[in-house]
Amino acid sequence: MEVKVPLKVILSGEHAVVYGHPAVAAAIDMWTRVRAEPHDSTVISTRYFGFEAGIRVERRSDGWTVVSEDLLNEFSYLVEAVNEAERMGANVDAKIDIHCEGPPGSGLGTSASVVCGIIVALLKLSGLEPEREEVREAIRNVEKRVQGRASWTDATVVTMGGVVKVKGEDVSKLNGIEPPMVVCYSGEPGPTAEALEKVERLRRKAPDVVEGLMERIGEVAEEVASAVEDGNVEKVGLLMNVNHGLLSALGVSTLRIDEIVNVARRSGALGAKVTGAGTGGCAVAVFEDEEPARRVAETLRAVGYDAWVVRTVSGGYRTSDSGA
Ligand code: PMV
Repeated sequence: MEVKVPLKVILSGEHAVVYGHPAVAAAIDMWTRVRAEPHDSTVISTRYFGFEAGIRVERRSDGWTVVSEDLLNEFSYLVEAVNEAERMGANVDAKIDIHCEGPPGSGLGTSASVVCGIIVALLKLSGLEPEREEVREAIRNVEKRVQGRASWTDATVVTMGGVVKVKGEDVSKLNGIEPPMVVCYSGEPGPTAEALEKVERLRRKAPDVVEGLMERIGEVAEEVASAVEDGNVEKVGLLMNVNHGLLSALGVSTLRIDEIVNVARRSGALGAKVTGAGTGGCAVAVFEDEEPARRVAETLRAVGYDAWVVRTVSGGYRTSDSGA
């Protein structure tokens, strides 16, 4: 069987959302495909964009073994996803092959998508039909265990799809524009746990300053949510630029992300920002139409980056028995 899970971008509000402020995120048409079949032990192989060797883990009588270790950061997510599925009633061993169209640590919710795929696949192979809400909670549990802290953003987007606003435990779908976007990878992974820790360190050193920045980020995200519902993509773009400045102040942009953001803006994007955890990973830019989006993606590729034109997808993960 196959579980197909969308990746995501955060249009506004990352990091501050972990501290209870709002964020706006969208499921995009880049996918993680998780194929699973019953097997005599549990073996997981993952391949990500740009990392053909991936990681392979196997459960033996004395615990988990990493068979190939290019992507050790992913190890805990894989193992915790299996543990969580078993806690939810999964009782089969399986051979699981994962192919993710995004690079690891790219800010595109790759870990949440992989965790989602493993949990749903193991439960379905065990004859169980999990509710989306149960899966959403399970993904968040795994993220919290691995990262120390996590908002509901990624878990919500990969299970519900579309454009969502998240604030604490409140989540709502936003009906409005679904503009073309360009996602561009800086070539440097930015593991979520490390980025979260970096922001938390700054918060401990300068709590008032950081809380002030987070308040502002939350206000921007509220306005982005309204602009999405009003169909005002130009305003979404402008606010994304503001959000990027605030995220830079929190220390999660990089030279390469700043370069991507500047190239995108100069070449016709309505707005561009780091997306997800940052400290590497991806930037996202929005456009009125697909044509300028394609041009900007070309320009970014010409200066050496990987870039994709993406659209929002409605609905979260989907399953098929055939694996087709
Ligand atoms: O980099 P990603 O895709 O794991 O996104 C992280 C987003 C944060 O706001 C930094 C963390 C969270 O749990 O919301």
